[in-house]
Amino acid sequence: MTNIPEEKTLDSSITLLQEGFPFLHKRMQQFNSDIFKTRLLGEEVICIHGPEAAQVFYDTSKFQRKGAIPKPVQKTLLGEDGVQTMDDVAHRHRKAMFMSLMSKASINHLLAQCDRAWRAYVTKWVNMPEVVLFEDVQEIMCLGACAWAGVPLKPTEVRQRAQDFTAMVDAFGAADMRHYRGRKARSRTESWVGGIIEQVRKKKLHPDENSPLYIVAWHYDTAGKLLSKKMATVELINLLRPIVAIAYYVAFSALALHKHPEYLERLRQPDGRFREMFVQEVRRFYPFAPFLGARVRNEFDWGGNHFKKGKLVLLDVYGMLHDPRLWEKPELFKPERFANWQGSPFDFIPQGGGEFELGHRCAGEWITIEVMKQALGFLVNHISYEVPPQNLYYKLDRMPTYPQSGVIISNIRRI
Ligand code: HEM
Repeated sequence: MTNIPEEKTLDSSITLLQEGFPFLHKRMQQFNSDIFKTRLLGEEVICIHGPEAAQVFYDTSKFQRKGAIPKPVQKTLLGEDGVQTMDDVAHRHRKAMFMSLMSKASINHLLAQCDRAWRAYVTKWVNMPEVVLFEDVQEIMCLGACAWAGVPLKPTEVRQRAQDFTAMVDAFGAADMRHYRGRKARSRTESWVGGIIEQVRKKKLHPDENSPLYIVAWHYDTAGKLLSKKMATVELINLLRPIVAIAYYVAFSALALHKHPEYLERLRQPDGRFREMFVQEVRRFYPFAPFLGARVRNEFDWGGNHFKKGKLVLLDVYGMLHDPRLWEKPELFKPERFANWQGSPFDFIPQGGGEFELGHRCAGEWITIEVMKQALGFLVNHISYEVPPQNLYYKLDRMPTYPQSGVIISNIRRI
């Protein structure tokens, strides 16, 4: 057995929040190792890096998710006891419900709803001196997501709901006011969405039978029991919130476009091939998920190291997206790297790795890619705009992060 390098610390939780995205990556470099130990939230944690590590991490005979996600993250970002915390048959059954909403027809339906919202906002924008893209795109996504899901949304509610979905995401790496804003946003959202689930169950609201609202509201667990109202609420929010979160990636896409105007013409091409490469590079280059956690289910040995039952293990997502062994010159934004990219499910993991149906890989990855391509299409083919001087810097010591100005665009014209 080799000795796993160990950070000498009583607890690094505060340092993790202070250092943000590079926390794991930095220590891997200091130890010159793809594995090290530290202490977080009062317990010893093993951090691992690399495609082989990802493959082990997604092996469900070795790892489980039960007990892996800290309560503060469940009380803000994810909701309590949802799909992310489940294992085995119960997880696969719940995941199948999510994946049933990811068909081509369902994604096209979402894109049609987002298209309507984009067009309405463009009509508004051409009469405005400037727009904070990150904020308006949250609203566009919220409108698109609710219309897709069959969730009624009054025009007067859009801003508040979009802000609440975003506040839940914004809270995941915070222990201060941001955390409390996230909790408040979640409780407001759960009471709103819970009321809608109840209306469906009491037959006061009649969503389409194929709609996410109907499917989640009438989902039965493996024991044949209807999900509790609270559980259905958490899972419906697990569909709406991350669609609104795509606004982070749209803001980063606009930033990338501003920094790399040389790609504009290729992005305008109707076949959309280059847009897909660009979107993939945005998901690689710009930070979102820092790492993922799971607990050792049964003890095992890997790479000369022993993993004890119950040990918490973190997989270094951010570090893997910036590792020169996986990406040539990772510090450069180069969509071309995806032209002939032949990856495995374990080396490009901005939204998790492994299999969709059997593991915890993000259920909404296809949606994310398509919605980002559509957003880019609007930015390059539907409007022209200027980017006035502003603070476009994004902090790596803040999780999640986004360009500080929110990407202000001005002098917006239809093309
Ligand atoms: C899981 C990231 C968009 C639904 C995840 C995971 C990550 C992630 C890192 C965890 C993977 C793991 O635990 O192994 C993102 C990012 C998004 C995004 C960065 C874009 C902003 C979406 C969308 C949806 C969605 C659009 C649905 C409409 C889910 C669900 C899970 C999940 C249901 C839980 C899967 C499971 O536990 O089996 N996502 N996601 N996500 N995501 Fe996403």
